[in-house]
Amino acid sequence: MTRSTPIIIDTDPGIDDAMAILYALADPAVDLIGLTTIFGNVPEATATRNTLALLELAGADIPVAAGAAMPLVQTPHPHPDFVHGVEGFGDALLDPPMRRPDARPAYQFIIDAVTDRPGEITLVPVGPLTNLALALQAAPEIAQQVARVVIMGGAVRHKGNVNAYAEANIWQDPHAAAAVFAAEWPMTLVGLDVTERVICTAADLAPMMETSPRCGAFLTKAAEFYFGFHQETEGIDGCHLHDPSAIIAALDPAPFEQISAPLSVTLEGAEAGMTREATRGPPIDLCLGVDAERVLGRFRRQLASGRLP
Ligand code: BDR
Ligand code: CA
Repeated sequence: MTRSTPIIIDTDPGIDDAMAILYALADPAVDLIGLTTIFGNVPEATATRNTLALLELAGADIPVAAGAAMPLVQTPHPHPDFVHGVEGFGDALLDPPMRRPDARPAYQFIIDAVTDRPGEITLVPVGPLTNLALALQAAPEIAQQVARVVIMGGAVRHKGNVNAYAEANIWQDPHAAAAVFAAEWPMTLVGLDVTERVICTAADLAPMMETSPRCGAFLTKAAEFYFGFHQETEGIDGCHLHDPSAIIAALDPAPFEQISAPLSVTLEGAEAGMTREATRGPPIDLCLGVDAERVLGRFRRQLASGRLP
């Protein structure tokens, strides 16, 4: 049997973040050793509450460390409540969590986890990259100690989703993204080039209602809001599978066509947050193509496996 991959998800839940977290809990190939939270889809305190509440729903006693509430340099953008709802999970409300977050800030949690198990931990940030930038600032040596960093973010040969140029996670903190892209650690970028090609519909979540009724009912309700946003803005009957695609890429790169190139990020102005292939900098594995049915099939199968309550 192949060993499961020890992963930390850095997240701003967020409806597709919830899909990613539940997927990670359901797939035995993931050893989810911790979650760190970040502002983005919702304020940081809401992201932490949502992460803890979601883990309790799923019966998972995994540490959660609270992270940055603001970008490194720029003035924060408003939270996109029209995408994920004011509370982050659309119209699906969860009970307030009983557990408290870890005493350490997210960046310290990341540093400790990586240095305790050199060469083993995969970081999967699916929100703004502020916590990772802070971890690098405090302990640059972690770059040589992570197994890999798999980022949901960016749009390389593709238009943005907050405007024509930028993808939301990078746009929320381009200075943090620049620091993360400049670090010499093994890195994969799972951006809109691929995530917008993987479309999840209500039919993909339906089997979960039978096999994992508690989590299935929650995810189905939360997804309604996200589907509504995609229907209104893009005429799609479903949603882009952003954050879960990054978890899947961290486990198995095979469904993704990649090139290796440095990446630049525009820091200011109308094009702030735009990511493009560059000529200088550490090479990053940039996902540009995807076997969407393979990614979606894995997502659907694991969620329906009955491993969640
Ligand atoms: C990314 O932005 C957020 O809205 C989603 O959770 C995802 O991480 C997609 O651009
Ligand atoms: Ca996210």
